[in-house]
Amino acid sequence: MQPVPPSAIDTPPQRLCASADLIERGRAHGFDLTWNGQTVPAFALRFEGRVVAYLNRCAHVPVEMDWQPGQFLDQDGRWIVCAIHGAAYEPADGHCVAGPCAGRRLQAVRVMEHDGSVFWWPQAPLARPTRSESPSATRPVPTCVAPPPEALP
Ligand code: FES
Repeated sequence: MQPVPPSAIDTPPQRLCASADLIERGRAHGFDLTWNGQTVPAFALRFEGRVVAYLNRCAHVPVEMDWQPGQFLDQDGRWIVCAIHGAAYEPADGHCVAGPCAGRRLQAVRVMEHDGSVFWWPQAPLARPTRSESPSATRPVPTCVAPPPEALP
């Protein structure tokens, strides 16, 4: 997702959090937005230096995915993993690379960083992440995604 200057679209962006609040592969910042007339949860996290944001809604079953509030990544911080059935998503673009919804993707939310803050657009169309390569050709695919020990009952 390319950064879009605030003046480039009609809906003014709103500040979500400080850039420093999102540490690399750390806890996500949760927020709500209106999507298809419903209030739905979303989250933003930092992966490979870039802030990405998605609806907190698995592509398999539309349920929230975090293990604990704000915890979406696996133990290695490599994949977004759904706590329900273990679907693994590429954090960079939301593409599901393993699990019951492999080949589908998370719904991205348009975000940008500016002047030490993260912004999002409440009324802008949700972003469509672009994908120019095959996931299996360019990145490792998890063969087994185990939940973090603290997430197990
Ligand atoms: S609900 Fe997420 S993998 Fe099934």
